[in-house]
Amino acid sequence: MPYKPSAPSPRLDQLPAWRTLLTHRDAIASQHMRDWFSGTGAHARVEQFSLRAAGLYLDYSKNRITETTRTLLAQLARECGLPAKRDAMWAGDAVNVTENRAALHVALRAPQGMTFHDAAGDVSHGVHDTLTRMRAFSERVRDGRWVGATGKRIRHLINVGIGGSDLGPRMVCDALAVYGRRDLSAHFIANIDPTELARTLPSLDPESTLVVVCSKTFTTLETMTNARTIRAWFISHGIPEGELGKHFVAVSTNAEEAMRFGIRRENVFEFGEWVGGRYSLWSSIGLIIMLYLGARHFDALLAGAHAMDEHFRSAPLESNMPVLLGLLGIWYRNFFDAQTLSIAPYTDALQKLPPYLQQLDMESNGKSVQIDGTPVAWQTAPILWGEPGTNGQHAYFQMLHQGTTLVPVDFIAVLNPQYDAPAYLDHHRKLLANCFAQSEALLKGGSMATAEQVAGPLGAQRRFDGNRPSNTLVIDQLSPERLGALIALYEHKVFVQAAIWNINPFDQWGVELGKTLSRAIEPELADPDLLTPDAHDASTTSLIRLAGNALKAKP
Ligand code: F6P
Repeated sequence: MPYKPSAPSPRLDQLPAWRTLLTHRDAIASQHMRDWFSGTGAHARVEQFSLRAAGLYLDYSKNRITETTRTLLAQLARECGLPAKRDAMWAGDAVNVTENRAALHVALRAPQGMTFHDAAGDVSHGVHDTLTRMRAFSERVRDGRWVGATGKRIRHLINVGIGGSDLGPRMVCDALAVYGRRDLSAHFIANIDPTELARTLPSLDPESTLVVVCSKTFTTLETMTNARTIRAWFISHGIPEGELGKHFVAVSTNAEEAMRFGIRRENVFEFGEWVGGRYSLWSSIGLIIMLYLGARHFDALLAGAHAMDEHFRSAPLESNMPVLLGLLGIWYRNFFDAQTLSIAPYTDALQKLPPYLQQLDMESNGKSVQIDGTPVAWQTAPILWGEPGTNGQHAYFQMLHQGTTLVPVDFIAVLNPQYDAPAYLDHHRKLLANCFAQSEALLKGGSMATAEQVAGPLGAQRRFDGNRPSNTLVIDQLSPERLGALIALYEHKVFVQAAIWNINPFDQWGVELGKTLSRAIEPELADPDLLTPDAHDASTTSLIRLAGNALKAKP
């Protein structure tokens, strides 16, 4: 069942597997997972509900599922045409129906020799040509052949971008900082709020700073405003305007606009329109990753993602990691009314993974209309949130264990620490002990009451019911390759869910209205007299007046 926006979609909640899943849910809802782990079947359950792919290990045995659940969920995926939809994405069909574009991010990490096409033809040559240019440029910067206006080699990198032009590169550079070049620092400026700028620029030497202006459209308000402020910073520090080309490169699909900004044609790294912002870190949007980590590690990141792509494309649905992760999400979101999904990476190196996944999941699947234009009658994207463990344990895990809301959790554990000094081994053991203990507690529940307290009110307040689901993803080490596989896993999981919900995960019209309205408000803030009584609702009008008058007082 490929994407055909004009054809009416069969109602998801009328499909046979959906209806059978409802009955099945009612049959097992009162059962406790604890019981499925008792007796001789316990080990078999772990065998049955775990798998390896692309170097990742997923234990999904601590879920409220039985063999029947898995079979029915896979059946639902078939009834929704998941394999055909996946193949359509691979084939370069215009699966992004509202923008009539392919979504071929898998082409970005495919090895040379593997070809992908969209409606306009082969895209793979362009991908590899750009990678070759990125490698050559990165080498020049890294080995000191590329110098700034005053002949100094580059020591500081700034990525100016927002959303997909920021979150992915920022997350990867942070997660893999241990692989980063010691004599290079990587900085990220995203927000229109100048705090990041004000905190970053004073510590940098403009003569040895290279700015990557990253924007698919090269018109994004935040990015262009920040880029202009940084350009003025260079000039105010004595870099002549004519020499700014040594300090600015651009990544965009809009080379003309980048050149209008003053970036030389040869310093614009392009990518295809078929690369969605939140799926773009593998393209030239990842230039700062290559500059900071080097081409070898960037290639390993791509290779890890490609390994996951191959697994997703070829493994049977019942043993396909992104499919299973996606279906488990459907199970809780649609059959247990779980509103949210918590991501708990047990390493600070992945602290930027939750915000990255927020855009990936919520911008992709935060939709309420199907691809045929009719409203959905089922829940879509969960609210995704999280923090690295063990920090989260001391903040919100209380609610995960004893709150009234069911919150499925994805734990991510790394077996070998990135910093493996003997002194840190003890830390790492404690870290993993906590990670595994949390999922055990969520599963089993228990009591912190003394024998005297058990029967009374204190006992009730000290009791954990358990039966709270989680996945545990285990990675041997947080290397570029494994990180690539992990990101691709979540990308495909989001795609699986979109296929089931019958929505387009590749557009983001929901962010446009606010952007348009802000363009009208900006001049009114500068001059509140421009405000007409019926330009906005009364609340917005009074907020504009309040802020406009406060800003007026500024010199
Ligand atoms: O505002 C949403 C968005 O369009 C994202 O989808 C995108 O990643 C981001 O803005 C940045 O867009 P651009 O790369 O064109 O600057």
